[in-house]
Amino acid sequence: MGTLPFGSVVDDPTSFALLDRFVERGGTFVDTANCYCFWRDGSDGGDSERLVGRWLADRGLRDEITVATKIGALPSGDGEWPGNREGLAAATIRTAVAGSLRRLGRDTIDLLYGHIDDPATPLEESTKAFAQLVSDGLVDEIGMSNQSARRFARARDIAHGAGLPAFTAIQQRHTYLAPAPKADFDYQVALDDTMLTYAAAHRDVTVLAYSSLLNGAYAGSKPVPPEYRHDATVAALRVLGDVAREVGATPGQVVYAWMLQGTPMIVPLVGVSTLAQLDEALDAVDLKLSDEHLQRLDAVRTPTTGA
Ligand SMILES: NC(=O)c1ccc[n+]([C@@H]2O[C@H](COP(=O)([O-])OP(=O)(O)OC[C@H]3O[C@@H](n4cnc5c(N)ncnc54)[C@H](OP(=O)(O)O)[C@@H]3O)[C@@H](O)[C@H]2O)c1
Repeated sequence: MGTLPFGSVVDDPTSFALLDRFVERGGTFVDTANCYCFWRDGSDGGDSERLVGRWLADRGLRDEITVATKIGALPSGDGEWPGNREGLAAATIRTAVAGSLRRLGRDTIDLLYGHIDDPATPLEESTKAFAQLVSDGLVDEIGMSNQSARRFARARDIAHGAGLPAFTAIQQRHTYLAPAPKADFDYQVALDDTMLTYAAAHRDVTVLAYSSLLNGAYAGSKPVPPEYRHDATVAALRVLGDVAREVGATPGQVVYAWMLQGTPMIVPLVGVSTLAQLDEALDAVDLKLSDEHLQRLDAVRTPTTGA
């Protein structure tokens, strides 16, 4: 369950109600970050973590829920974001984790990601600093988000070579529609075949995806973002709609089911702001697509030219 807007865009009572419903329906895994939603007026970026911390404390669920958070993308100092983000130097990582633990009201973080690649810090330094948090018992698992397959693999090699805990989770932008060939997501990194091949070959790696509903575009409530418009978009949306009708589901549910049934499995982070959206998303867990459906969906999603 993604919590990006909780405690800021989505008010506290609604956020609590969504988290309560998530747990009622068997949910156990919550995703946040130390920078949500810094871009809102008056925010220091800690709104979502604080909201999750308040809810865990209020419901007595501190030890029941698996909490993942991310560090490294919070603005720090002058200049424009993301250029002025705090980054992933060893000292920054230690300070950032202390802040996340405080806001979440916990002694440990179940999964901690580096939120955005930091090419200015040696990969070895960041990798060892993340591993040290595991050795110190502050963090259980470590992951990367918005990272290339090459650097993710390299960081894991560094950890393995030094006998240290390695990154086991990768969180990228991913949805059913493939990005256009020249799509520019700025600091965000779309899941690609190289990463999927790497994850398939390394069974200890879990792949997670964000923005899988394209902010409501499959439901028609928002436009398809320009980065996903290419020569295959219309056909892909048609097949998605056909499959959805055949299985009695919504297109968004088919997107989630398609990801969950892929090889390797991709765990979508659910983005919702109402109980109806949450129920719809969670119902997708029970939706089973046939091999024929999966093949039809796979056959049309990728652009055939560079246009
Ligand atoms: N690692 C990263 O860099 C990164 C980046 C972005 C997000 N994330 C994580 O991923 C989570 C999900 O990301 P996201 O919010 O971008 O996901 P998303 O799935 O693309 O968008 C979620 C939005 O889609 C709309 N929606 C959901 N269900 C709908 C339905 N049934 N009908 C119509 N519209 C529907 C809602 O918009 P309205 O609220 O407007 O109705 C909802 O807020 C975040 O909470 C965060 O934890 C990570």
